Amino acid sequence: MREEKRKQPKGLYVLFLTEMWERFGFYTLAGLFVLYLTQDLKVADASASLLFGAFASFLYVTPLIGGYLADRLIGFRRAIILGAIIMCLGYLSLTVGDAGLIPVSLGILIVGNGFFKPNTAALLGHLYDEDDPRIESGFTIFYLGMNIGTFLAFLVSGWIATDIGYVWAFGLAGIGKLISLVTFLIGQRWLEGAGHPPHPELLRERHFGLSNFVLVLIGCVAVAAIATFFMTHDLVAGEVLAVVAVLAIAYFIFEGWRSGEVVPRRVIVLALLCIFSVVFWAVYMEVDTSFTLFVERSVDRDVFGLMTPPSEFQVFNPIFILLLGVPLAALWTALGRRGRNPSISLKFALGLLLMGGSFFVLVLGIATSTDRVPWEWLVLFFLLYTAGEMVLSPIGLAMMTDLAPRTLIGLAMGIWYLSIAGGYYLSGVLAGIAAVPKDATALATIDIYERGFSTYGWIGVATGVLLLVLVPWLNRLLGGAGKGA
Ligand code: GLN
Ligand code: ALA
Repeated sequence: MREEKRKQPKGLYVLFLTEMWERFGFYTLAGLFVLYLTQDLKVADASASLLFGAFASFLYVTPLIGGYLADRLIGFRRAIILGAIIMCLGYLSLTVGDAGLIPVSLGILIVGNGFFKPNTAALLGHLYDEDDPRIESGFTIFYLGMNIGTFLAFLVSGWIATDIGYVWAFGLAGIGKLISLVTFLIGQRWLEGAGHPPHPELLRERHFGLSNFVLVLIGCVAVAAIATFFMTHDLVAGEVLAVVAVLAIAYFIFEGWRSGEVVPRRVIVLALLCIFSVVFWAVYMEVDTSFTLFVERSVDRDVFGLMTPPSEFQVFNPIFILLLGVPLAALWTALGRRGRNPSISLKFALGLLLMGGSFFVLVLGIATSTDRVPWEWLVLFFLLYTAGEMVLSPIGLAMMTDLAPRTLIGLAMGIWYLSIAGGYYLSGVLAGIAAVPKDATALATIDIYERGFSTYGWIGVATGVLLLVLVPWLNRLLGGAGKGA
């Protein structure tokens, strides 16, 4: 292999920084939002979590539309720029601090995310040829960028929120987003000509006297309004997500088949792995709900004399990603060079096993503690949890862009994020297993967590084993494609 082929494309680093600042903004909001609602605005716990859950699910549904429009009409660059501008407006409107405006701000962010989130990854996929051996390492490095942003967000935003005020932290999120936009605008020149509209003349084509581009903008306002309505009326249902997913995958297969590009066997693998991914994310997202409440109620949070807030422990996730990212990217490349890179399905199975295993660490911590569980167990938990994330999440992104037909990469990313939306939804249902009644004693509380976490553990491990059994068959279906690294 020639030397320049082995190096990652320059555009990777542009997208790395763009996504890093975007995640800084997003996790500043995500880490503080429920606290802001309950503490500053005196919203009840249940309504605050419900609103956040609905917001998070919607956030990962709109990438389907944003990805599709980028593939077909506006191109990845315009989609990213448009998404970033819309998201800046969303954060800005949150700084007004008006409770009535919040669902509208969230609706705006949902639309912006739909354009932004799938298309940075899709554009990155475009920088690689089909079955390019560098792609998994590339996406692992990209993931590292996201988590530098996440780490910085967890590090500073909590202090700003408590010392100066929540709306200032949201302003900071907006500044992060603005830096992301400017980085992309400046860095575009290194994207090797990728990401332009596939048929620029289509953008100017007119319907009802309006150009297609103006119609897209009108569509944005409509979707923001619909999302706002759904969120304020608590209307997200698993059934709706499932129907949307089936329709999207059917459309994906149909379009791919019509273009003569799609290999039906590959699509079966993609669809199956997306279903396994829903289970993975459902367990993964317990960290935001039942796990955080467990840390608050049943963990000794005295870290070297400092009483640490429960959400702060999540910082171990980006820390371990930063520690594991570089060695893993190197490992995929090294194994790939010898033709020994484990298959995507095997990595997914490993991800599920590690995710399940991480919850058994908590069960072990609970079983061996007489009183509150020492916080050190959380470190071991996050190590396995994050290792599971690293062999599944960036690999999933790489897989979708690598195995999808070139003209449908944006839509494929949308389908991947839909599996995350499904995970968010299912995690809310699963959290019920570890829900603690109000008057429970400390002992009863810890019992409930022990049972809940071992259930999550078994779900992860059993699904991982099931996938392990399917690995040889899935590998045969792929027939050597998507070897990555
Ligand atoms: N943490 C990663 C991200 O924020 C993957 C999970 C997700 O997409 N929510 O992109
Ligand atoms: N680990 C989460 C993500 O990759 C925060 O961004």
